[in-house]
Amino acid sequence: MSKPTPTLRLDRLLANLGYGSRREVQGFVDAGLVTLDGVAIEDADQRIAVTPDLSQRMVVRGRPLDPPPGVVLMLHKPLGVTCSHKEVGPLVYSLLPDRWRRRDPAISTVGRLDKETSGLLLLTDDGALLHRIISPKNHVPKRYRVTLDRPLRGDEAARFAAGTLLLEGEEKPLLPAEMETLSPTSAVVTLHEGRYHQVRRMFAAVGNHVQALHRDCMGRLALPDDLEPGRYRILGEAEIAAVLPER
Ligand code: URA
Repeated sequence: MSKPTPTLRLDRLLANLGYGSRREVQGFVDAGLVTLDGVAIEDADQRIAVTPDLSQRMVVRGRPLDPPPGVVLMLHKPLGVTCSHKEVGPLVYSLLPDRWRRRDPAISTVGRLDKETSGLLLLTDDGALLHRIISPKNHVPKRYRVTLDRPLRGDEAARFAAGTLLLEGEEKPLLPAEMETLSPTSAVVTLHEGRYHQVRRMFAAVGNHVQALHRDCMGRLALPDDLEPGRYRILGEAEIAAVLPER
């Protein structure tokens, strides 16, 4: 059975999307600056059905409504930005429009990439979906392109696949991971879990050092070639489904 469409008062919806306080929102509703299907909404307390197509139907101060709650973004994370709401220095959230950083529920990253890792990063305000993607139960595969300081020795793929590799300071062995060699100093690694600095620590455990790391796939969702570093895109239902295991 499909979920019923949630409804929200217009002032609450716009305040939650970061457009201003409910009083401020009331001001621009009274001024006729919010329209639905081309007709100005008169009452800020009107209940609005929050459908996924609302941004195509509602206009706020002359611009399409921001994506309604339940948004999922795919960002090409550039090097040098941090996946955190509060650390000093450039944050992934500064790559999103200002107003999106005032949303409630907040948009958060789905897991993290290190500051010096680039590639596919998902962000969402949908807490339940976030947990489904990062839950170890779901084993969403994540694929990384790795450039190494030293040539591969030849036994790395077997050691990663064994399901017995221990990372420094840990007692639980890693789940089996796949590795495909691309050149003497580069490889593609697919993980089915997400431990802290996992790829870097896996190569440290086999006597190498990761020079560059880039994630290009999560589940069956690949980072598109035309999405430049620092740019993001809103995902549709089929792309979101491609991240999760097939049922
Ligand atoms: N493994 C790492 O070492 N770093 C990342 O950012 C992701 C996986």
